[in-house]
Amino acid sequence: MNAADDKTIVKEYFNSTGFDRWRRIYGDGEVNKVQLDIRNGHQQTVDAVLNWLKADGNLTELSICDAGCGVGSLSIPLAAAGAKVYASDISEKMVEEAKQRASQILQHPDYLVFNVQDLEQLGGSYHTVICLDVLIHYPQDKADEMISHLCSLAQSRIILSFAPKTFGLSILKKIGSFFPGASKATRAYLHRETDVVKILEKNGFLVQRQKMIRTRFYFSRLLEATRE
Ligand SMILES: C[S@@+](CC[C@H](N)C(=O)[O-])C[C@H]1O[C@@H](n2cnc3c(N)ncnc32)[C@H](O)[C@@H]1O
Repeated sequence: MNAADDKTIVKEYFNSTGFDRWRRIYGDGEVNKVQLDIRNGHQQTVDAVLNWLKADGNLTELSICDAGCGVGSLSIPLAAAGAKVYASDISEKMVEEAKQRASQILQHPDYLVFNVQDLEQLGGSYHTVICLDVLIHYPQDKADEMISHLCSLAQSRIILSFAPKTFGLSILKKIGSFFPGASKATRAYLHRETDVVKILEKNGFLVQRQKMIRTRFYFSRLLEATRE
């Protein structure tokens, strides 16, 4: 399968069965045990990013690009904290849901702009570019191109998460227990941290902070890198 196929499949998935599944996982309604575990793991990733950004000072007026924003799990709290957030996703349905959630929560909805867009088509320049749990849908060569493009949009900092290619996780994936259930409709690609760091460095970014988030069914390596 080539990367263009991956993108088409991912887009169709997040506009159909994937939308229903992930809208529930990224919500607060009743879900099964596996989905609850993934919800809790993902929330830890979102909280880790919010804590890093808040530890660096006031978020007011900080321009942030949230590429592959999903239903706004990170964009909405960032905008609530005063950041200027440019959120986008390749799936119309995810963006529609994100807009609806934002309108119910935000007092200043003008702090958050949504667009339906492939992250490789994004333009502009932002203090911080963030891309959480998106690279898992793409093989390493495509992920490299995506990371390079995201780096070109970042004035100062980039924050990425990916499913790390470790021995344990590769085994889990092989026996099919990685992302159990209906989400098997898309492929899950694991990435070597050394490959991700190498492409960040090639684009002039050095890793400053890192965190591993791991629950039973959710694995995410989070890296923050700043311009050298
Ligand atoms: C697992 S969800 C993560 C959503 C969000 N980043 C979060 O952590 O809550 C992956 C998201 O990436 C989006 N996506 C996948 N490929 C994309 C691309 N090429 N450009 C923009 N969004 C993409 C999907 O539509 C989906 O909403």
